[in-house]
Amino acid sequence: MDLLRFTTAGSVDDGKSTLIGRLLYDSKSIFQDQMDAIELTCRNNGEETVNLALLTDGLRAEREQKITIDVAYRYFATPRRKFIIADTPGHIQYTRNMVTGASTADLAIILIDARKGVLTQSKRHSFISSLLQIPHLVVAINKMDLVDYDQQVFEDIVGDFRDFISRMDIDDITYIPMSALYGDNIVTKSEKMPWYNGPTLLYHLEHVHVDAARNLIDFRFPVQNVIRPNQDFRGYAGRVSSGIIRKGDDITVLPSRLTTKIKNIVTYDGELEEARAGDSIVLQIDDELDISRGDMIVRSNNVPHFSRSFDAYLCWMNQEPMQVGKTYLLMQTTRCIQGFVRNIHYKIDVDTLHRTSTNQLELNEIGRVSVDTSLPLSLDTYRRNAATGSFILVDPDTNVTVGAGMVRKAVQVEMNGIMMRRPAGGWPDPEDIIMDGGSDGGKKTAEDLVREGHQYLPHPLDKEHGAVLRSPNVKWMPQNISREERERRNGHKALVIWLTGISGAGKTTISKSLERKLWNEGKQTLLIDGDIMRHGLSGDLGFSPQDRKENIRRAAHAARALLDHGFIVICAFVSPSSEDRDMARYIIGESDYFEFYIYCDQATAQKRDPKGLYTKAKKGHIKGLTGFDAPYDEPGPTTFKIDTTKLSVEEAVLALRSRLLLG
Ligand code: ADX
Repeated sequence: MDLLRFTTAGSVDDGKSTLIGRLLYDSKSIFQDQMDAIELTCRNNGEETVNLALLTDGLRAEREQKITIDVAYRYFATPRRKFIIADTPGHIQYTRNMVTGASTADLAIILIDARKGVLTQSKRHSFISSLLQIPHLVVAINKMDLVDYDQQVFEDIVGDFRDFISRMDIDDITYIPMSALYGDNIVTKSEKMPWYNGPTLLYHLEHVHVDAARNLIDFRFPVQNVIRPNQDFRGYAGRVSSGIIRKGDDITVLPSRLTTKIKNIVTYDGELEEARAGDSIVLQIDDELDISRGDMIVRSNNVPHFSRSFDAYLCWMNQEPMQVGKTYLLMQTTRCIQGFVRNIHYKIDVDTLHRTSTNQLELNEIGRVSVDTSLPLSLDTYRRNAATGSFILVDPDTNVTVGAGMVRKAVQVEMNGIMMRRPAGGWPDPEDIIMDGGSDGGKKTAEDLVREGHQYLPHPLDKEHGAVLRSPNVKWMPQNISREERERRNGHKALVIWLTGISGAGKTTISKSLERKLWNEGKQTLLIDGDIMRHGLSGDLGFSPQDRKENIRRAAHAARALLDHGFIVICAFVSPSSEDRDMARYIIGESDYFEFYIYCDQATAQKRDPKGLYTKAKKGHIKGLTGFDAPYDEPGPTTFKIDTTKLSVEEAVLALRSRLLLG
């Protein structure tokens, strides 16, 4: 028997409890003893009709004792279908619950009091339903008994609602006039409204077509747990967010991008040939790969975006307004990382659907925002996949859920099509990329894996340019004191800030000022720049492209070593070649490398000429000066650009500082 999940939205006055009670009562889904108790209570109170609200209110009181549950789910069934109602009390909770409960709904019932018509709250609910892409909407125009079952009242409300909803993205809307109190058009057709030819509510709920809305195409499996009861069994437990997976399917693990095949799909009731959206399963794979909680298993021919920045709709659910640049905890699938809102594009007035610009979001406001996270996430757009396209923000100080969001667009961050994960504790030799032992407990190298048919995707810089060179007969040793321990003592994350730009753009000035700011905040920080490197460590190098590359390689390795020792490392290098910067990103590790483009136009740089180099170049005393007679590759759009002709040093430092997630 199939299943329909629906939500009801409306305030208590609209008769929501009565409606749910009536549905349960008339469809005979209430246990008789509950019914007897209610009838007795009503008779004792001298009420003529049975007060069905007592039924749901009773359940609610019971529920409220279990404070951990946000959404109350109510189950009932008719011979045709099973139903789950996500009961969402006031509108504040409604916004909150969309992530936990309502976002998986197939249908939303918007309750409207026939005497009051379309109110702000009805609009808000409809708008959220449309944002959430709930495929079916029922506009339940209730309390028709109080307007003499007047067709005109119904038509007017339908007209108003249509006007409003026409600008939204909802496929299917059904309008039903009803009286939950007297049971008109809930389960049985009302004789009082012969002018209405549509279905009753229950008939509609039983017949509406649901499966079409489920995403069975994109297989997404966020790993919740690694299960290893004994040496012979290793599996990955979780719930299929979307799509279908079968034994033998080719899969890719994110973020490592290693590939293999599904060996087994295991459940408590035995093995399955295939599993689909909603199933809780344990996956066994053909090879022993390094997979941990928070990773995502997908099909190799259909992978999600992998990104540290994205564009989203955000509903704010907290009394304290949302602050741009404040660090929140961001939870998406099984991951919890740090993130912040970089920018609010606009907020949406739910009454008019107008967009207004703003610099904060208040309780219940909805805005379009840009979000940045401390680590890349595997995401889809919400439209495509509600599970991997939604997230919540939690205030790290109070642990309260403060925002709920839906991804509109991910900004893809890839480096040459390759995404790498930096193992905790340091970056090993490429040869020692170790996947925790085979059955013999041995270690597999990257080469072994490739030989066995994995796509390990070593970085091209590895082989061609020796980004990770290694002297003969040396062995990678794990760190004595781990980076995590150091970060814990320091009280902040370690990371590398890489400033690139032509001479005179302001790298040195900004880096010094930033270092001072971080120092004053009590952070462990240090600064390496071209001039320091070239007075010693890179003193043997000039400014040919090869020498610059070698200079950057050395600087990146130095930065990486310092990073592993818990420092916030500020690197200021002209680093004109984008390939060299990618190499630095690779050596340091994608998730710890934060690149900033310190920009000014060439004329300004030449006018500033802090070191007199441009003057010398103009006189022909030096050759190959970047920004004069040697090229500079501008970074792409994912690198934050700081224009020093527009910003003061203080402003530039603040802009930079606000983008660092130091925890
Ligand atoms: S990089 O190209 O290898 O990244 P790096 O940042 O280390 O350059 O060094 C740049 C510094 O070297 C500049 O601050 C400048 O003082 C000095 N310099 C000397 N010659 C050149 C040149 N031809 N191009 C750029 N910088 C130069």
